[in-house]
Amino acid sequence: MTPKFTPLKDHDTPIKVLFTGYLCTVGIGYLFALIQILFTHGMADGKFGLSVDDIVYSYYGNRSGTVLEQKLNGSMKENAPEQERFKLMEWVRDGADEEAFQDDGIDKIIETRCVMCHNKEASGIPSFVDFEGLKPYTTQDTGATFASLTRISHIHLFGISFIFMFVGLIFSFAETTTTQYKCIAIGMPYAFLIADILSWWLTKIHPMFAWLVIFAGMGMGTSFMFMWVTSILEMWLFRPLFINGFGSRYLEWRDSPEASIADRMWVVIKTFAGTVKPTIGYAKQLWLKHGWPLLKGVFKK
Ligand code: HEC
Repeated sequence: MTPKFTPLKDHDTPIKVLFTGYLCTVGIGYLFALIQILFTHGMADGKFGLSVDDIVYSYYGNRSGTVLEQKLNGSMKENAPEQERFKLMEWVRDGADEEAFQDDGIDKIIETRCVMCHNKEASGIPSFVDFEGLKPYTTQDTGATFASLTRISHIHLFGISFIFMFVGLIFSFAETTTTQYKCIAIGMPYAFLIADILSWWLTKIHPMFAWLVIFAGMGMGTSFMFMWVTSILEMWLFRPLFINGFGSRYLEWRDSPEASIADRMWVVIKTFAGTVKPTIGYAKQLWLKHGWPLLKGVFKK
């Protein structure tokens, strides 16, 4: 059956270049977003790497302490040496008194270590130029504020839906995925996006929902990856992959009406296993020819 659309591989090269340029840029953007998450939320519990605790602390808050303490143990840890951080925390625990702020030299620490970033010109982060700006952060940490959640919610909903609009549109010209699965892959990110935003608000109310944040984020990432890889492969590697290569078997079983699910899985496993042996052989050959002599040379020196 001929499809009612132009398959990705049959688009003109300029269009393919346009699609590829967009996909690559958005892909790099996604990577940066992950790095950003790792450095802000990932550091919320003071340890590198994203965990459920990080998400609970970010949205629900670490209610056993103040924001200032959490930050000094978390993403702001690198900004002041140990003793100064200790002094700041001690001051907060003692009630964050305005008089002690000056008498104990807290103002000097803030001025030298924090104000270069936390000043009036900085957008998106609080100004610590005077005591009034710092005060709200010396109270119990209840996580993200409703104001900040509202702000990031609408930015994410508008921004990310556009990204998936175009990624989905490009992917909709794919021909190696059946219509049914295409609908799922294209629709999924929107469902996960809404679930993701909703889960922030739910986590703000109860820490239990931190799991939903992770689940929804991974769902979005998975559908993004699937659409991205399929589109790129179909545009540039259709012949070597789907006609002469591994993918041809995939297309065969996809279109064969008799094959049961078990049969289909078996074909995939068999084809896959079939490619493993030559790949290992090739890798071994490469290693013996180039890798091993190189390593020997390095050690001889
Ligand atoms: C290199 C720039 C920089 C320096 C220096 C810096 N901060 Fe930050 N700070 C940031 C950024 C960016 C954020 C927002 C991202 C985050 O929360 O990690 C932030 C967030 C914060 C927050 C959370 C604000 C909120 O809205 O929840 C607190 C509290 C904080 N910093 C305290 C400090 C203190 C105390 C110091 C000095 C010891 C300091 N920061 C030094 C850049 C800086």
